[in-house]
Amino acid sequence: MNSRALYMAGAVLALGAAIAYAQMGPGTMRGGMMQGGMMSSPRHFYYMHNGLPPEYAGKVNVLTPTPQVLARGRKLYADNCAACHGANGNGDGPAGRELNPPPADLSLTMSMPIARDDFLYWSIAEGGVQFGSAMPAFKTTLKPDDIWSIISALRSGDLQTK
Ligand code: HEC
Repeated sequence: MNSRALYMAGAVLALGAAIAYAQMGPGTMRGGMMQGGMMSSPRHFYYMHNGLPPEYAGKVNVLTPTPQVLARGRKLYADNCAACHGANGNGDGPAGRELNPPPADLSLTMSMPIARDDFLYWSIAEGGVQFGSAMPAFKTTLKPDDIWSIISALRSGDLQTK
């Protein structure tokens, strides 16, 4: 897709989000869907309404969270993600301060039902270009097992390298 096509796709997506939002009505505002800023995330909205591209849908972590896997994931997280998402994943990294949208609070993400393996893998592999965010795509710089080990580390709830 060229950048104009991508832009148009984004515009259509945003319009669809606005229409769907308007249709939800005021009652939904007080419902659980609005809590934790979920509906303010174009990424969450996209996933809930479109699912994932076929190459990502249903992907499941192939790694067992052994101490070695977790150590690798924590190191990769520190090297590739902490600058924006913060050492503990709270979205407070120094390189993220000026970003709009800001880096996600990954500890919050991991506490939500949306934090399925396929959602996380897709987010990390494809990054945020389609949502106009600075989240880089890691599919060319990290191997699949690297991404899975990071997901294992995120799921362990402890991102500190030992
Ligand atoms: C340059 C800053 C930057 C770096 C580096 C970065 N991210 Fe992000 N990330 C973002 C931003 C900004 C968002 C929010 C917008 C979006 O969803 O694209 C985000 C969103 C995400 C999300 C989606 C969370 C949600 O609830 O929607 C995940 C998962 C994620 N990042 C994981 C990672 C991981 C893992 C790494 C390292 C391999 C990483 N990010 C590196 C900036 C960054």
